[in-house]
Formats: sequence, structure tokens, C-alpha cells
Amino acid sequence: MKYINKNLSIEKVKFSNIAKKFGTPTYCYSYGQLKENINTFKKSFNSFSPLICFAIKSNTNVNLIREIKKFGLGADVVSMGELMLALKAGIDPKKIVFSGVGKTSNEIRYAIDKKILLINAESKSEIREIEKISKSKKKIVNIGIRLNPNTDAKTLKQISTGKKENKFGVSEKTFIELVNYSKLSKNINLKCLSVHIGSQILDYKPYEKMLKVVDRIVKKSNYKFDFIDLGGGMGISYEKSNKKLNYQKYNIAIKKFLKSNDCKIIFEPGRSIVGNIGSLISKVIYIKESNKKNFIILDAAMNDLMRPALYGANHKTLPVVKTNQISKKVYEFVGPICESTDKFTTLKHFQKLKEKDLVVMCDVGAYGMSLSSNYNLRPKPTEISVKGSKINVIKKRQKLEELI
Ligand code: LLP
Repeated sequence: MKYINKNLSIEKVKFSNIAKKFGTPTYCYSYGQLKENINTFKKSFNSFSPLICFAIKSNTNVNLIREIKKFGLGADVVSMGELMLALKAGIDPKKIVFSGVGKTSNEIRYAIDKKILLINAESKSEIREIEKISKSKKKIVNIGIRLNPNTDAKTLKQISTGKKENKFGVSEKTFIELVNYSKLSKNINLKCLSVHIGSQILDYKPYEKMLKVVDRIVKKSNYKFDFIDLGGGMGISYEKSNKKLNYQKYNIAIKKFLKSNDCKIIFEPGRSIVGNIGSLISKVIYIKESNKKNFIILDAAMNDLMRPALYGANHKTLPVVKTNQISKKVYEFVGPICESTDKFTTLKHFQKLKEKDLVVMCDVGAYGMSLSSNYNLRPKPTEISVKGSKINVIKKRQKLEELI
């Protein structure tokens, strides 16, 4: 994304042209950036050729997942819907892992029928349920067990998953018990230890700690795991000041782990693959100024992009046409929804804006559209992908008739 003659552009296409053609709000994804992210990810860890399972929850656009599949990636799914979507996008079932603390019997049955690589179980009850279903189907099912390594991911509390107070995975003690239980089972084949300590992790040290715990538990369980699934969580840079995760340092820690562990590594990245490929264009509906506060009221709202309302996340916001006229006022950028948390950001020294001007919110490719809703009965936005100067509509704007 860059300014070409003062026009903010995604690859070779001006955002103003996209807005003219498809209306606003609209999600736009850069194919070039997607390709770069996947290649960088692969290159960073190529010495041990991991299986990279894209976390479908971060972006559920089937056309985008089809593109991701072309790079050989598998999928990490957390519901029957996501599993169906991954299969529809053509992802090989032998590259699909199923995570989540509350898989229903129906979901387990479906996953077994589709012969996916692994069901990563998160409790004793779930293992019993998988065992019961596989027995009734006269099958042997490959499973993983998710360990809760009690490791602080040093990220937002709301997206931390690896501490003992979190609902995810099982404790060390239960893990060992479940390994011994699985060894005796005729219908389950324990293949994997899985972990996922959180999301938007910017420091490699929590990963290093997590690997030390995993190493200790593998040795203690005295069991040969074919796979170690390290989850996702690799953080990206949302603002100039915050660095992204140093892959090199993480790679060194994994290589050290692999010296004494002969297994295939699985990753489940979401944000690091699609986060910075997406932008949301929005139009200023009204500008409302008062003594107390000034508001830029956009046509995008928290139903389109939930992260600021949900986590206080801040997405860089840019004017679509640069004028270099800077406003002296402070503006709160808000949406039209009837909630005070429907607020994107507060900016000082932003470019002077007029009603009908366009702005772009950056780095919304992960957990942007996938967290969107129809709150206030607002239709979900159009999604387009851009490759050079070519635009593809990869999901049409919802029609009100579909909702009413
Ligand atoms: N694997 C498991 C088991 C997960 O729970 C998650 C994310 C991932 C992989 C992918 O993590 P990633 O590489 O994308 O960090 N809505 C929040 C993020 C929630 C993440 C939930 N789990 C946000 O907008 O920041």
C-alpha cells in the first residue's frame, strides 16, 4: 500500500477507484502481500519443513483460502463450519487439524468421516467422546492432546491462552495421564502434542519458554510424538513503533528443540499470513464538532471491524487522497452504531477532512471480516482482492433483502 501521486493505492489500484466502483465500506486484500507473507514464513522455517496450517478463523473468505491453498498450506479449524469451508477451498484433509475446547459429537463425527490429519483434544471427556465415536465407526482415529504449558505469552489478556487459568488445553499432570490412557486405547492413535499460548505475540521469549516446557513434558511422558503442533500467534506490526515477531530467534529455539526430538513441526498461523494484506475503505458521512469533542462519523462501524471495540486495538488510519492540509483539531473516528464503544481511533494532526472524503483502516486482513456481524441490521461489506491492476470481487456486499 502506498501513495502514488497523492492517491493511496493497493498494488496498482487507487482506493478512490475501488470506492467509486464498489461503494464503501469495502475490504480490500493485496495478493502480492499475501504471497510475500507466505514465502517469508516458509523461508524462515525451511530447515525443518513444517506443516503450515492456516488458522481459518482469522479470515473465512473461501476465495482467499483457495489462494492460500495454492501455496501448499493446510488448515487449522475450530468448528464444523470452518472444516467444511477448508474442504470447499480444496485443502487436503491430510493437512487439516481441528482445535477447540468444545467440539460437539456431530463435529467429531464429521471430522472422523473426512479423515483429517488430527483432532487436537483438549480434555479427558473429549478424548472419551472421540474414542466412543471411533469405536462405533470401527475406526482408529489420529489425535493430538493440547497441553496448557502455563506460559505467559506477554500479549493482551483477552488473547492469551497458555496460562493455567485459561480454559485451553490440559495441565502437565493430566497430559501424562491422558498419554497413558491413549496408549491403551484400541480406537485412538495419539500422534501429536499441541500448544498455542496466545495471539499477537511480539517477543520470541515466551515461545522459548513454551518449548522448554514441551521438551520436558515429552521426555516425562516417554512417548514418541510424530507431530508437535506449536500453534500460531506470531505477532505483526500494527504501528510503526511495535516490531513484529523475530522469526529468526523463534527458528533457532525450535531447531534446538528438534535436536533432541525427532518429529514434524506444525504451525497454525493466522494473523501473520493475512493481517497486513487487508485494508478497509470507508467514507466520512458527517463531521460533528462541538466545544467538548469532534467526531468524524464513518460509514464503517464496529460490526464491520470489531477489534477496536473488543480489544481497544488501534488500526493505522490514512486519508485516501493526500492534501497535506493538517487539521489543528482532535477527532474521534466513530461509526454509526448505537454503542459508545463504536469508535475506531482518536487522532491529532490528521489531514483536514470533509464530508464524503475517504479513509482507509490498515492491517485488517486478520480478524476483520471474520469477526464482523449484522448488528444494527447492517449488511456485511464487499470483499475484493487486488493483484497488480486486476480487481476480483471475492464476496459481494450482503443485500438487505437477505437479512430481512
Ligand atoms: N491456533 C489456535 C488454537 C488458535 O486459538 C488461534 C487463534 C490460532 C491458531 C491463530 O492465531 P494467530 O496466528 O492468528 O495469532 N480475535 C483476536 C485474535 C484471537 C485469536 C484466537 N486464536 C484479534 O482480533 O486479535
